[in-house]
Amino acid sequence: MRQMNDISAATLNDILIAEGDLHAARMAIFHSSGAGYVVFRNFLDGAQLRHMRSFWLDFDVAASGFLPFSGKAAFRPECPNFVSKDDAGNCVYHNFLWNPPVDELTWSAAWAVHGIRSRISGRSFFAETLPHGGRAVSARVTISRQSQEWIPQHRDYMNHDRRFEKNQFDFSRIQATLILSKAGVDYRGEGFRFQRNDGAEVDLAVAENLAPGDLVLWRYNNLHSVGSVEMLPGGSGFMRILFPLEEMHAAPEIAPSSRSFLARLAANLFGKA
Ligand SMILES: [Fe+2]
Repeated sequence: MRQMNDISAATLNDILIAEGDLHAARMAIFHSSGAGYVVFRNFLDGAQLRHMRSFWLDFDVAASGFLPFSGKAAFRPECPNFVSKDDAGNCVYHNFLWNPPVDELTWSAAWAVHGIRSRISGRSFFAETLPHGGRAVSARVTISRQSQEWIPQHRDYMNHDRRFEKNQFDFSRIQATLILSKAGVDYRGEGFRFQRNDGAEVDLAVAENLAPGDLVLWRYNNLHSVGSVEMLPGGSGFMRILFPLEEMHAAPEIAPSSRSFLARLAANLFGKA
């Protein structure tokens, strides 16, 4: 009998989660009897995993057109991709789906992962992919190599003070982590810690013996954190892709004088550009 938190019916090659698995996945994530997460084992096959790891470990960001990440206020419709790196070798690449894919497989996986997550949370497969609404997904490739205190314990989508604002207080939200590294081989330390629906705190990678290529969908409201991480010799560090829904900010106003001739002509003829 299939275990509640071990659903393997969806892979990148299938793209869609089977209709019959939606209920089991929702029970595992949302119900008090569930773990608060589901694992899709081998979501990436071996070749896909090898490609994705080597692509991002060897990624030449200087030639990529990524801009230095200066804060989430720069996230706006049709913005470029962003990168942050530090001296300890920690890297974060923010990929948005409207940009030409730097790696087609990562881009395809982002659509699939986000679509499966959206369907389990009761949204359409294509919701929040392109920036028409308040939020849009980014594929955040994250490589943690040396970190004492990474992300303190917190809950997402639980901002009670802003509960009447769109998307600020939403129990249906699910985060996705596509695992690209192995605890004990690529890194040691606390890694990703997660509070299950029964209140127990676990290191998910250890508790579920997660392997590179596995996909974990987890309840965004549950307490979670990333603790100390240390890359092991010959390893990649703690490497994974997260799929946060980023708030889209308004594009900066363009001064009329810097508009193109055609835009100014259109403004004169039709009253707007
Ligand atoms: Fe979070």
